[in-house]
Amino acid sequence: MSHSNPATGRRDFLKGACLAGFLVATAKLPAVEGARFEVGKRGAHSRLAMSYAVVDIGLAKPFSVLHISDTHLASAYPDEHPDKIAAAARRSQGFGGRQEEALAESLEWARHNTDYVIHTGDLIDFQSRANVDLVRKYWGEAMFGSVGNHEFYSYMKDEVRGRTEEFKSRSWKMLDDMRPVNPRFASCIVNGVNFIAIDDVFGAVQPDQVEKFKAEVQKGLPIVLCMHVPFFTPSVALATHKYWRRTGKKFVGRPDPSKPPKEGGDLWNQLNDPATAGFIAYLKQEKLLKAILSGHEHLTMEERFSPTAVQYLVGGNFLFAARELLFV
Ligand SMILES: [Fe+2]
Repeated sequence: MSHSNPATGRRDFLKGACLAGFLVATAKLPAVEGARFEVGKRGAHSRLAMSYAVVDIGLAKPFSVLHISDTHLASAYPDEHPDKIAAAARRSQGFGGRQEEALAESLEWARHNTDYVIHTGDLIDFQSRANVDLVRKYWGEAMFGSVGNHEFYSYMKDEVRGRTEEFKSRSWKMLDDMRPVNPRFASCIVNGVNFIAIDDVFGAVQPDQVEKFKAEVQKGLPIVLCMHVPFFTPSVALATHKYWRRTGKKFVGRPDPSKPPKEGGDLWNQLNDPATAGFIAYLKQEKLLKAILSGHEHLTMEERFSPTAVQYLVGGNFLFAARELLFV
């Protein structure tokens, strides 16, 4: 993409100003032919598993957002590395092979039914040229919201996967090239509501992200926090455990309510990493926080997080899950 000029810092300015925001106006999405599937008289897009919610924050001008997450696009071109071609075959089978159709149909729904669309990570299942091209095909210059853990994975056989900032840092350039917004922290104000996307992959946030968040709070606007990994209340942990316990080693990193949290896992980080635990405690008493949008667990759930905010998890977009949120 040609929206940057590293020499002048123009791109950083654009990112900060949210001109190419992570909350995408659906009118800016490219139209994609054939992205609908009709069953009898049930209407277009009848494969979508839609949920709905109303976020009541007393707005003068209501608007709507389609929230999707975890599409897990899993493609590779024939001339890409054999590891990526093998991953594409393996992962396409694992996710049902209809990820691209699900994304196309979701975005087509958004273009016709909501004002904005946001994606909370794992849009791509692994880094490949084919996956990046799919992102560009469906999102145009607009691109998506927060990053997920899979945005950091290469799926090369020699990949040493850590759950650390150092591991993530290898992908900042790739993500920077693929997306017009800062992958670690971005703010986008829509109709007086401040949408903040934060990278909380592996369950932890960093002190500089917390400081940036607190600076955003000073603007005095209602806030919607968008991030990949949900905050694990006991019921989110239990639902997650039920969903993932049968899938063997994929359970790694996910909490088991019957055991102490695994050190370095998502829940453990939320409980024990000082910056993250402090951030969660701070958020619980921050009255400007009105909603949290997350994914990662591939299940749809909503639960009160604080006196002013509900946390919404949306199911895997590869399963055609999506949630329409009406902000009033
Ligand atoms: Fe994830």
